[in-house]
Amino acid sequence: MPSALPAGDPVPPDGALPQAALAALGDRPFGLYVHVPFCTVRCGYCDFNTYTAEELGGAGTAPGASRTTYARAAIAEVRRARRVLGDRDLPVSTVFFGGGTPTLLPPADLVAVVTVIRDEFGLVPGAEVTTEANPDSVSLADLERLRTGGLNRISFGVQSAVDHVLRTLDRTHDPLRVPGVVADARAAGFEQVSLDLIYGTPGETMADWAVSLEAALACAPDHVSAYSLIVEDGTALARRVRRGELPMPDDDDLADKYALADERLTAAGLGWYEVSNWARNEAARCRHNLLYWTGGDWWGVGPGAHSHVGGVRWWNVKHPAAYADRLAAGLSPAHAREVLDPESRRVERVLLELRLRDGLATEVLDRGGRAAVPGLAGRGLLVEDGERLVLTRAGRLLADAAVRDLLP
Ligand SMILES: C[S@@+](CC[C@H](N)C(=O)[O-])C[C@H]1O[C@@H](n2cnc3c(N)ncnc32)[C@H](O)[C@@H]1O
Ligand code: SF4
Repeated sequence: MPSALPAGDPVPPDGALPQAALAALGDRPFGLYVHVPFCTVRCGYCDFNTYTAEELGGAGTAPGASRTTYARAAIAEVRRARRVLGDRDLPVSTVFFGGGTPTLLPPADLVAVVTVIRDEFGLVPGAEVTTEANPDSVSLADLERLRTGGLNRISFGVQSAVDHVLRTLDRTHDPLRVPGVVADARAAGFEQVSLDLIYGTPGETMADWAVSLEAALACAPDHVSAYSLIVEDGTALARRVRRGELPMPDDDDLADKYALADERLTAAGLGWYEVSNWARNEAARCRHNLLYWTGGDWWGVGPGAHSHVGGVRWWNVKHPAAYADRLAAGLSPAHAREVLDPESRRVERVLLELRLRDGLATEVLDRGGRAAVPGLAGRGLLVEDGERLVLTRAGRLLADAAVRDLLP
């Protein structure tokens, strides 16, 4: 979620969508993202739309501006979504609570949101219902309440198993407690457990990264996301890099660490299905993220959340108080929107689908893009798999360069 919202076009006060956007709704999977914008501390590298209690001090008393009243505002937006989308049959395939730290809310609040989603839309049989969690933000009792309340997938932000790396990232959890919290999630009945890792933190050696990968694998996760550290403008990390206190992550080091991750995760039975994501099997892939990457429809609930329905993309006001004020006044919390033209949708498909193991359908390319394929294949960056183009490991490291050639 970018720190500054793009300008976009205005949204009608009731958030109504053009009929053309609603026409094919239900033909593709439909999901709900629920953004929970609260954290105990702000990690120095993070520019997500999240607030500590201190940052929210004096933010107003509107419901949603504080942790205790947030669920009420989120539920109001779910009900509003149902009205905007009409009474067509639209069961939800995936729900994803992201943050921020969703598990800072009482489990009953997350469960209440799931319950209202189920009441308003219905859930498809076997729907995937995920929450992100920081390893030190949940107890066994919390996990049991979440599981009983309908959540079945959990994604822990582990990042690293090495103390000095976690300190540089401002992470607060004790890495030795991660296996215990994963075991608690299993004991509570979570069917899918995912771990998030970050590589390339200043000061992290190759040996440190290997330790983190082994520690993650020792937890026997169903799914791992491994992201290279991005130094986001405006963060404390970026200021430290600019002052020369920390070095900028080095591209060659990042490439070596990606290659090690892919080797170790693959050897442990986790196959890549998106450039930064590995899963134990097809059922362990994150269906919610796949919906983003394959042009599905989703409604993003919460401050700053982004949505996409039938080629219309919109994003909510960022601050929790402004968000809650809008809903309390009976208005759409959307800040602005854009209607994607066919060419933008095509470009987006190339950008996203090329990153998938399932590959990019060659038919999406224009003549110039198709002409670039033999060169990329010759350089060992992609292979043609039937009518689809699939990146090799070398290609995954140079995905952006490959995209530039395919979108001349
Ligand atoms: C924004 S967090 C939200 C979940 C939870 N609060 C946590 O920190 O794990 C989701 C994931 O985004 C990734 N992330 C956030 N900022 C990043 C950055 N600057 N570079 C790379 N990954 C980042 C981390 O892997 C993190 O697990
Ligand atoms: S806990 Fe997660 S969302 Fe919160 S500041 Fe840290 S990385 Fe960002």
